[in-house]
Amino acid sequence: MCGIIGILGLTPVAPLLVDALKRLEYRGYDSAGIATLERGSLERLRAEGKLRNLEAKLAAAPRLGISGIGHTRWATHGAPSERNAHPHATERLAVVHNGIIENFRELRTELEAAGRRFSSDTDTEVVAHLVTVLMEAGATPHEAVAATLPRLTGAFALAFLFEGEDDLIIGARRGSPLAVGYGAGEMFLGSDAIALGPFTDEIAYLDDGDHVVLTRSGAQVFDEAGKAVERTVTRSQGTTYVVDKGNHRHFMVKEIHEQPEVVGHALAHYLDLARGEARLPEGLDFAKADRLAITACGTAYYAGFVAKYWFERLARLPVDIDIASEFRYREQPLSKDGITMVISQSGETADTLASLRYARSEGQRIAAVVNVRESTIAREADVVLPLLAGPEIGVASTKAFTAQLAVLAATAIGAGKARGVLSGTEEASLVRAFSEVPRLMHEALKLEPQIEALARELSKVRHCLYLGRGTSYPIALEGALKLKEISYIHAEGYAAGELKHGPIALIDEEMPVVVIAPHDRLFEKTVSNMQEVAARGGRIILITDPAGRDAAAIDTVETIVLPAMPAAVTPLVYAIPVQLLAYHTAVIMGTDVDQPRNLAKSVTVE
Ligand code: AGP
Repeated sequence: MCGIIGILGLTPVAPLLVDALKRLEYRGYDSAGIATLERGSLERLRAEGKLRNLEAKLAAAPRLGISGIGHTRWATHGAPSERNAHPHATERLAVVHNGIIENFRELRTELEAAGRRFSSDTDTEVVAHLVTVLMEAGATPHEAVAATLPRLTGAFALAFLFEGEDDLIIGARRGSPLAVGYGAGEMFLGSDAIALGPFTDEIAYLDDGDHVVLTRSGAQVFDEAGKAVERTVTRSQGTTYVVDKGNHRHFMVKEIHEQPEVVGHALAHYLDLARGEARLPEGLDFAKADRLAITACGTAYYAGFVAKYWFERLARLPVDIDIASEFRYREQPLSKDGITMVISQSGETADTLASLRYARSEGQRIAAVVNVRESTIAREADVVLPLLAGPEIGVASTKAFTAQLAVLAATAIGAGKARGVLSGTEEASLVRAFSEVPRLMHEALKLEPQIEALARELSKVRHCLYLGRGTSYPIALEGALKLKEISYIHAEGYAAGELKHGPIALIDEEMPVVVIAPHDRLFEKTVSNMQEVAARGGRIILITDPAGRDAAAIDTVETIVLPAMPAAVTPLVYAIPVQLLAYHTAVIMGTDVDQPRNLAKSVTVE
């Protein structure tokens, strides 16, 4: 998952390219580079590691060119290094790429046999040589790119800059997002609207298979058949949000603290808090639906997992849930009256997009719960349920997760009403319960000092187990994911009822166990599990409410006591202590909280 930017400017573009790459770093940050035309000649500047390394090089060797492309990389082929950093170049052009060229090995063999010499281990470099060979045979840059694209299998977003061509950038997309930005006498190309934010809010997203010829006077778009087409120019929301940390140390903790506001905003959009009703989006007929499939990746999947309990309980609608990387290949028969719901913060996750397309091929009605309104998944769904959460920059998802839960809960309530399962009174009672969530989240955030102190203990361990039952089980999975992805401590989430079926063998004084247990109808069962842990010297961190604290009667390392609340809303509120615990543990361990190693915010390759 990489970030791409291209600018045909009126002033030196190098600093603008770097500014855009800063907004794209959430897509990958193993290395970065730019290429500009300096008096018509291509000059590259690349650096391994964080963007600040590239900035240092640029400060030492300023570039004055007014045309350029840039790239921030999450390595797929070839180690993160300067030689593998994009742009890749030949004597005729430079190219940046997001995606994977799956047939690059056979293409490389063919090109090396024809005498081309490679200087990197990347798949991308084959594209540079393919286009160059065609240009050396007399093709124009546009002809050469158009003839190269059909030879590539896999996913790509590409941007090309050509030696001696100061008013030309060519872009292409298949499976990875690419947007054209329209300026006043300037033109832009970028992975998403956030990258283009400083330059323009007039954005046109390319469709899969498109390629585009940019000059300062505009853009000519061509579809997969090479036919000239128009792509709608819209005023993008993605460019209007302020993307900075404010007075927070990291984006992640800023976004954790934004949750009461973000979730309140989402609930107000999907629930009529005054009338006590859920507002189902147009186009989703839950009354007719006989099954619901939910698919997503990572944290989004855990939101869908919570939603499984809600749809089954509140709407009596059977739910099949699966991680998208399995859903897309399982070839499961989907019922003709079924709905498939895909959940994705970025709206660009490759496996989730592929699952959407599989469900489409099975004739499903597709609903997409996304944060990026102009994303590919949003544009391919029948019905979009936006999170309205604003850009989430921290790679570890927090506000998007609880916003997803808010949207899914509201939809489950609406579905229950539409299916005649919920009465008006029951609907109003649930709406009232969820309207309390922002306040409850504020209360949960007040526990941060206690959680920060506990994190000092947790930062000393190498393994950790999270347990939960019912809707607290996906929260246990999410808590484990948060801890492992930002602190690098190995953590596993488990259904508490599964403890005796294996994981209990792990229990000793070295293995803390975080137990997520509101005082609900399963609480006593979970108390038994805690006693089994305590009897074997296990150290328990209990997250519960006052009734749970009083009833547990068990020695714990720490008990985090949240306010009492209706069972239906616990997943949104209990997410906060597990997010804070992971965050503060990672801070103590000194990891790169907003950009953890090996990760990227949007996994646009499978
Ligand atoms: C969450 O903290 C992770 N960064 C990751 O699991 C993420 O949720 C997953 O990659 C799905 O991303 P999406 O919501 O953009 O599709």
